[in-house]
Amino acid sequence: MPLVPDAARDSLFLAPGATSVQRCARCGAITHETAATAECASCGGLLEIVHGAPDAHGAALLALFGLRCGMKPGSEPSGVWRYRELVMPSATDPVSHPEGNTPLIARGSVQTFARSAPLLLKHEGHNPTGSFKDRGMTVAVTQAKRIGARAVACASTGNTSASLAAYASHAGIPALVFVPRGQISLGKLTQSLAYGARTLLVDGDFDACLRLAREASRELGVYLVNSINPWRIEGQKTIVFEMLQQLGYDAPDWIALPAGNLGNTSAFGKALREAFALGMITRVPRILAVQAAGAAPFAASFVKHFATHEPVHAETLATAIKIGAPASWDRAVRAITETNGVVASATDAEILDAKAVIDASGVGCEPASAASVAGVRQLRDSGVIGEHERVVAILTGHVLKDPGIIQRYHQETEPRPARANRPIEIGATVAEVERVLKANGG
Ligand code: F0G
Repeated sequence: MPLVPDAARDSLFLAPGATSVQRCARCGAITHETAATAECASCGGLLEIVHGAPDAHGAALLALFGLRCGMKPGSEPSGVWRYRELVMPSATDPVSHPEGNTPLIARGSVQTFARSAPLLLKHEGHNPTGSFKDRGMTVAVTQAKRIGARAVACASTGNTSASLAAYASHAGIPALVFVPRGQISLGKLTQSLAYGARTLLVDGDFDACLRLAREASRELGVYLVNSINPWRIEGQKTIVFEMLQQLGYDAPDWIALPAGNLGNTSAFGKALREAFALGMITRVPRILAVQAAGAAPFAASFVKHFATHEPVHAETLATAIKIGAPASWDRAVRAITETNGVVASATDAEILDAKAVIDASGVGCEPASAASVAGVRQLRDSGVIGEHERVVAILTGHVLKDPGIIQRYHQETEPRPARANRPIEIGATVAEVERVLKANGG
């Protein structure tokens, strides 16, 4: 004897136009779709949802979905190659994941924190390997493939290496990555291992890794894909193109981004220069590049109108931007100068504070990414960014890139960080769960 009458179990849909219901998969009992129950009130069985039949069938239904879909064959599934005329017009067979198509997000709590009501977040952590690096890497590895590179290489604070590892294995090209031993987050290191790159743990900091990678590439004929590689810059420009498109080409007043090796700052400058020249926008946003205070040679130079160029010994918890001798200096100076931009720096405490707010909004990002929002807050406080000026802050990497720092922040006791969300140990009783619920206003 079946527990459910066949007719009830088999009706995949209700009549067209009917409201969805919750139905018990065991006894067939039906409850309203808004009933707040996770199991069948009659028999305790598991529930399933049954919808009214859609009005359209067959080809008409497919056409309806197709109209809404940006991923259909023949469309442009990559948010980089969609702009290929401005990226690599001659590419015929891109090594694409696809990538890009990252969201623009508004979150009240982040806007309140940054004291900027119009603030939007463009979350590049939604890329396939969890950072904006994929936008440049799809182009650089496409180039490596078409020139027949024997191998590809990069130095990295973790995200470039994760991205290169993934795209090189997709292209079938051996990859060498140089990372500073003990100085990159576990999430990033494990990505490089998982995707199959030869992962070299170098006894030195990022700046030493980059020197070694440049030298080794020159001497061994390996194709270097750090952001000094111009194709990387072409791909990263699409962060700006896509953001402008999402805003209907009504450019914001400011674009804020974290800055380390200055490749992205350079890419944004080039993208805006081209977008303006091509009439895609009628006004150029100002770039706000934000460094970590312990790794801020570019910010120090900005204060002196770029008259100085002094590398520093870099120290910051935001390991992605722990860089003391940025490689793309000159082109970044041009980006800031041409856009009437600003370079700021944020302390680790300011970065972690901003990150805690972004994380608790449900958006989440890695530490370096939060520098952009910390910078916006600073410039709002000093009045450089006006109350009504529209700001887009770039979140460059995913929250899971650096779980270690999150664990430390929320469990730290001395001193306890302002926004710590400590885990709570309980005995396995409902009474203890209720105690927690009540203490939290539940
Ligand atoms: N944000 C994140 C998450 C990064 O990984 C990086 C750079 C930046 C910002 C700064 O961008 O270097 O173009 O100024 N990460 C590089 C890497 C250095 O090796 O992954 P930049």
